[in-house]
Amino acid sequence: MVSYKELGLVNSRELFKKAMEGGYAIPAFNFNNMEQLQAIISACVETKSPVILQVSSGARKYANQTLLRYMAQGAVEFAKELGYPIPIVLHLDHGDSFELCKSCIEFGFSSVMIDGSHLPYDENVALTKKVVDYAHQFDVTVEGELGVLAGIEDDVKAEHHTYTDPAQVVDFVSRTGVDSLAISIGTSHGAYKFKPEQCTIDENGRLVPPPLRFDILKEVEKRIPGFPIVLHGASSVPQEYVDEINRYGGKLKDSIGVPEEQLREAAKSAVCKINIDSDGRLAMTAAVRRVLWTQPAEFDPRKYLGPARDELKKLYMHKTQNVLGSAGKA
Ligand code: G3H
Ligand code: 13P
Ligand code: ZN
Repeated sequence: MVSYKELGLVNSRELFKKAMEGGYAIPAFNFNNMEQLQAIISACVETKSPVILQVSSGARKYANQTLLRYMAQGAVEFAKELGYPIPIVLHLDHGDSFELCKSCIEFGFSSVMIDGSHLPYDENVALTKKVVDYAHQFDVTVEGELGVLAGIEDDVKAEHHTYTDPAQVVDFVSRTGVDSLAISIGTSHGAYKFKPEQCTIDENGRLVPPPLRFDILKEVEKRIPGFPIVLHGASSVPQEYVDEINRYGGKLKDSIGVPEEQLREAAKSAVCKINIDSDGRLAMTAAVRRVLWTQPAEFDPRKYLGPARDELKKLYMHKTQNVLGSAGKA
């Protein structure tokens, strides 16, 4: 058993408290490899933002859990080396079983999500409570979820949203003891969050998706005032990246994300954690495609992963400064 405290990591409790008081949200960026981690840490150090490093079970399989643990430990030292030791949380994204959460806690994670949102309500409560009871012995914070996001989460695919029912939140939070709650208000995972036919067209010819269900968020806030809320599926799918990917041989069609102004608005409310993965994937892919397409003789991975890392860093700095408002809060 390794305690995250020995690794220099922190849990999310204090970060959420400050985010709630300050009207901003902590970025939760997924990582699977070194370049993503370097970009996240250098962007957050440069903008003085706290950060949640997110590891999905897919990432854990891809990168190996031991390596990921040492990478997160390395990230703490890297931030110090860059001159500003920001608070770093190592968080399991979409944990689907007690055993997985327990194993991550034993491996040094400071925070876990147990996603029982696909289960019948009482089973979600029981599973979430079991994880909370275990995690809290080690001062590890736990995120639960109520309501189902449309789209793909690891191997689970839901065709439609099931919006969070505000009538359930008081009971869920008090019976489970969770530290934060992910809710479903119209976001979804991946790069295809809305269909073109759901959108209107603005003066620049861009597709504008329907607004998130802020009414549900307000209703949730009313029932559990001051309780940290989490927004998954919060990528904005920047059109520049989609265009660039397509210009250099890619085939992304009608990719539509959540407008950043809506995320900015959410960050001012009880939403204390905003999850972004797909935007990073798009930024990296655009940069790699650009290099490989324009310099076909290039075969040194540093020559395409380096620019990908630079593009990612730019994206993350933009998110902390202009979208989540977490810049300067570390
Ligand atoms: O919610 C899903 C995250 O974007 C992680 O995706 O399971 O493909 O690593 P992944
Ligand atoms: P995106 O696919 O919108 O980036 O969402 C990521 C996420 O919610 C990770 O849990
Ligand atoms: Zn998610």
